[in-house]
Amino acid sequence: MAPGWERWRAQLEEALSPVREWLIGEIALRPGDTVLELSAGPGDTGFAAAAIVGERGRLISTDFSPDMVEVARRRGAELGLQNVDYRVIDAERIELDADSVDGVLCQSGYMLMADPATALSETRRVLRPGGRVAFSVWGAPERNPWASIAGRIIVDRGQMPPPEPGAPGVFSMASEERTRALSEAAGFSAVRTQEIPVLLAFRDLDEYERWITEVGGQLAMVVRGLPEEERQAVMSQLKEAFAPFVADGRYELPGVALGTVGR
Ligand SMILES: C[S@@+](CC[C@H](N)C(=O)[O-])C[C@H]1O[C@@H](n2cnc3c(N)ncnc32)[C@H](O)[C@@H]1O
Repeated sequence: MAPGWERWRAQLEEALSPVREWLIGEIALRPGDTVLELSAGPGDTGFAAAAIVGERGRLISTDFSPDMVEVARRRGAELGLQNVDYRVIDAERIELDADSVDGVLCQSGYMLMADPATALSETRRVLRPGGRVAFSVWGAPERNPWASIAGRIIVDRGQMPPPEPGAPGVFSMASEERTRALSEAAGFSAVRTQEIPVLLAFRDLDEYERWITEVGGQLAMVVRGLPEEERQAVMSQLKEAFAPFVADGRYELPGVALGTVGR
């Protein structure tokens, strides 16, 4: 998905700015801190933190996909950032010393991991005592039509199996109880969660289709592989389902992220 995420980076950065701002506010970094971003994708959330920790501080921008790390490296260079290390790191096996970072950011990452419990324990291990994790996952499917409607149509048409409960996926940590329980079981205390509304806007259905097939993970792979007739059938169902979201001549699809902070 890395080329797609690079192509759509600016739109995603804008649409997800409420999430990024919440995470950056809650992680409460100070100049000179070392901050780790997990599953950074194109890296923008960590780059906002790099500006706060400043020249004396350091951002370790990471993703387990080497191609994504290169996308972030190019973006960081474009921004002229000097205080960033780029590393390929699997969040389930973080190759950093215990107690070595002051804060950890992870936007839209843990819910896609095979074992978020281990990833959160690893996060707690590398954090200094008192250091905060600030992360976001996606809330309930019915509150995130930008992803759930297309997913439901594809499942209903038998093109993809329904998600197994708890299996990695966009909505696997949508339950506030599950996210809180996973965080506390990993050793985090003072866990707080908050809903963060976002809006994803698309000029037309063509633009939505291009976006979902370029950034949409498993869904993207399925849509890319559909025979032309089936693709058209999916798009016409989508057009009908998206009708309530037409505003100002475009589609405005709402979403709700679940922000979580713990120490
Ligand atoms: C939905 S993207 C989010 C990217 C970015 N944080 C953002 O919000 O724009 C999810 C990212 O998680 C990464 N990822 C998934 N599983 C991972 C793991 N176990 N360790 C590290 N990164 C992982 C993927 O490579 C992908 O870049």
